[in-house]
Amino acid sequence: MKALVLAGGSGTRLRPITHTSAKQLVPVANKPVLFYGLEAIAAAGITNVGIIVGETAAEIETAVGDGSELGIEVTYIRQEAPLGLAHAVLVARDFLGDEPFVMYLGDNLIIGGISGLVEEFRRSGPDALILLTKVSNPSAFGVAELGPGGRVVRLVEKPRQPPSDLALVGVYLFGPAVHEAVRAIKPSARGELEITEAIQWLVDGGYEVAPHLVEGYWKDTGRLDDMLETNRHLLESLEPAVRGVVDESSTVVGRVVIEEGASLVRSTVRGPAIIGRDTRIVDSYVGPFTSIYHSCAIEDTEIEYSIVLERATIRGIGRIEDSLIGRDVEVVPSAARPRAHRLMLGDHSRVSVATTP
Ligand code: DAU
Repeated sequence: MKALVLAGGSGTRLRPITHTSAKQLVPVANKPVLFYGLEAIAAAGITNVGIIVGETAAEIETAVGDGSELGIEVTYIRQEAPLGLAHAVLVARDFLGDEPFVMYLGDNLIIGGISGLVEEFRRSGPDALILLTKVSNPSAFGVAELGPGGRVVRLVEKPRQPPSDLALVGVYLFGPAVHEAVRAIKPSARGELEITEAIQWLVDGGYEVAPHLVEGYWKDTGRLDDMLETNRHLLESLEPAVRGVVDESSTVVGRVVIEEGASLVRSTVRGPAIIGRDTRIVDSYVGPFTSIYHSCAIEDTEIEYSIVLERATIRGIGRIEDSLIGRDVEVVPSAARPRAHRLMLGDHSRVSVATTP
């Protein structure tokens, strides 16, 4: 069995937080989302992994390398333009051959991995196994309609009027019949070869398409609450480790990782929490469910249930909760007159300032 991981796509669909980078490399609990997928693939015993790359190929290749650190062997497959998920299967035809494979969208995260699913696929051998999960915003996904006996009868991509609340999760297991399907379909209204339509083609042709319901699924839809919740979930199973420096006046309580080069000065970290490489925490409190990424400076601050991305500085502005702070962001106090908040916020930013009652 092989794996095909999709980490292509262009920058046009990226949200503000990922302006300058591949969306598959957004860190959750200080690990790029793509790595959870690759680790899940390795854990399922699959070592032969093709990664589809596009415009952001250099970034992806720098992050993943040859895969040996993850126990996999990576072949990079260039897709000249993001022409659709089914197009990626077409492009990977030579790599895949006629072997069954798991197709994994690099911006999807399945908490709990895929070993059970791979096992189920191997045991029952359908032409396709699709993963479904209940969501509150099905219009943002491919949606499945199940018929009598839980059979898949219809699949629609991003329907305005969703026939159900069952979204297609971005992990699919396929036998070789899918190659015929991706050759048979035509580009959709958005100009892409849709994997959803290829699966519909299999259903219509009488091939066996088995559904499997999953829980514990995340994909970055731009919703802060979802991202914080996933961060919380992942931090709960963190293996505590102190690889940085904790001074005598600092306290570390519970499930906490302090990465190499990080330092804690006169501060308290109450886990689950992770403090990234070369980050400095000074005179501060870092509370549960917080991930602070590499090379940040947190001074004279209390922060809890939040995510901070690399090189951010937060100093002396009181307490922060339920927040996502992007790369290179500075949050600092000012004594300048006139007394006012001075903001430079990117598109789609959201600020809620605690006002004094
Ligand atoms: O995430 C689940 C959803 O993924 C499913 O519910 C939908 O049915 C499915 O079509 C897909 O929808 P998206 O529109 O969200 O997919 P997106 O274009 O964001 O691409 C998903 C991943 O695949 C992403 O990591 C980029 C990569 N990709 C995408 C395209 C279109 C490629 O590598 N090549 C491509 O041509």
